[in-house]
Amino acid sequence: MAQQQPERRRGGGGGGLALLLLLLLLLLLAAALRPAEALENGLARRPPLGWLHWERFLCQTDCAREPHRCVSEQLFMQMADVMVSEGWRDAGYEYLCIDDCWMAPTRDKQGRLQPDPKRFPSGISKLAAYVHSKGLKLGIYADVGSKTCAGFPGSKGNYKLDADTFASWGVDLLKFDGCNFGTLAQLVKGYKDMSRALNETGRSIVYSCEWPLYQRPLQKPNYTEIKQYCNYWRNYEDVYDSWCSIKDILDWSALHQDDIAEIAGPGGWNDPDMLVIGNFGLSRDQQVTQMALWAIMAAPLLMSNDLRSICPQAKALLQNKEVIAINQDPLGKQGYRILADHKFELWERPLSGGGYAIAVLNRQEMGGPQTITFSTAILGNGLACNPTCWIQQILPTKRELGLHNWASAFKVLVNPTGTALLKTKVPEEKPAAGTRRPPEH
Ligand code: GAL
Repeated sequence: MAQQQPERRRGGGGGGLALLLLLLLLLLLAAALRPAEALENGLARRPPLGWLHWERFLCQTDCAREPHRCVSEQLFMQMADVMVSEGWRDAGYEYLCIDDCWMAPTRDKQGRLQPDPKRFPSGISKLAAYVHSKGLKLGIYADVGSKTCAGFPGSKGNYKLDADTFASWGVDLLKFDGCNFGTLAQLVKGYKDMSRALNETGRSIVYSCEWPLYQRPLQKPNYTEIKQYCNYWRNYEDVYDSWCSIKDILDWSALHQDDIAEIAGPGGWNDPDMLVIGNFGLSRDQQVTQMALWAIMAAPLLMSNDLRSICPQAKALLQNKEVIAINQDPLGKQGYRILADHKFELWERPLSGGGYAIAVLNRQEMGGPQTITFSTAILGNGLACNPTCWIQQILPTKRELGLHNWASAFKVLVNPTGTALLKTKVPEEKPAAGTRRPPEH
C-alpha cells in the first residue's frame, strides 16, 4: 500500500533514564524534521518498463476513419495481447499506459472524469481488469491544470476525486501532465496534492510527473523536493521520431547532468521521454543509440511504437536482456557523459559489483565507421580497469573484447550516429603482484 515509510533509526544506550529519554526525544525530533529522501511508496525501485501511446498514436480520436490507430480500448487490448504473446511482458515491459485524449470532453454528473463512451465503451475498470488478467499493469493520463495539453478536462480542483476515481478503476500508474497549470505556486502545489491524494487511496500507483519541465522556465527545479513526491519526472521537451530529437535530448541531459544525475535512484528517476525504436525516423544505428543511452541514463523504458507490426530487428533490440539488465541495475545510479568532442562521446554508468556500462557514441554524421580510441584510465574515475577489467561489447552485437588494464588504449569501431555499448567487469581472481596502477602524486 502506498504510504510514506518512516525512517528507522538506531537508538543509542545511555546512563540514566533521563538521558535516554532526552536522546529519544532528540531522535524523534530529528526524524520529524528530516524530509523523506524519495517518494517512499515502495514503487519504481527500478526504472519502470512499459508502453505509452503518445508518440506513435497521438490524439487520433476518429475511430470511424482510423479504426486501427485511434485511441480506444481496442488499441490497448490489442497491445496487451501482443505484449504477452510476443514476449514483451516476459522481457520486463509491464506498464501499458494510456496518454492524453482518452477522456470524454466533460466530467460526469458526479464531477468525475469519464472516458469517451464511443472509444472506451466498456469503461476503464473493465480495461484495467483485462490488462491485469494478462499480468500487466495499466497507466492513465491526467493534467495538473485546468485542461490537458489536448484540451480535455484537467484535474485542477479535483485532485482527491480524480485520484480516488483512478484507484477505484484499478489504475496502476498516473502520468500527470502540466499544461494550463496557472501560477508557479499552483503548479507545485498541484503536483504535491496529487501525490498525497494518490498515497491516500491506499492503492499502489506509480506517479509520473512533468513538474520540472514546466517549472524550469520560471524557476530552477528543486529535485530533492520533486523526488519526495514523484516516482519519475520529465525535464525536457517531448521526444519525436527523429535523430534530431534524440540528439537534442542527449545534449540537454549531458549539459544538465550535474543537476539531474545524482538525484536519480530507487523510487525516483529522470525521464528523457519515450523510446521511439521501431517507428520510422531512426536508422538502425540511431535506434541502438537510443536504447544504449536510455539504459545508461537509468531512464524509464516506455516504448511508443506499434507492437502489432514492429520489425524483428527493433524487437530484438528492445528485448535485449543485457541492455535491460543495465537499465535495471540494482545500484540504481544514473550514468553521465565523461568525454565529448565534435566527433565522439563517452558515457558511463556505475553498476553493482564494481563494473561500468560504457557508451561510445559516434557523433560524426559524415563518412563511414570510425575507430574510436580512448584510454581505459578515464573510466570510472580511473577505477574501472584498475588494475584490470574484462570488457564485453553488448551493442550493436555481443562480443568479448578481452582483459584490459589501467594503461590500455581501447579501440572500438562505431558507425555514424551509432553507439557501442560496453560493459566492464572486475576480474574475480587477484591481480599478479606489480600490476596495480601506481598511486598518483
Ligand atoms: C505533452 C507531454 C506529452 C504528451 C502530450 C499529450 O505535454 O509532454 O508527453 O503527454 O502532452 O497532450
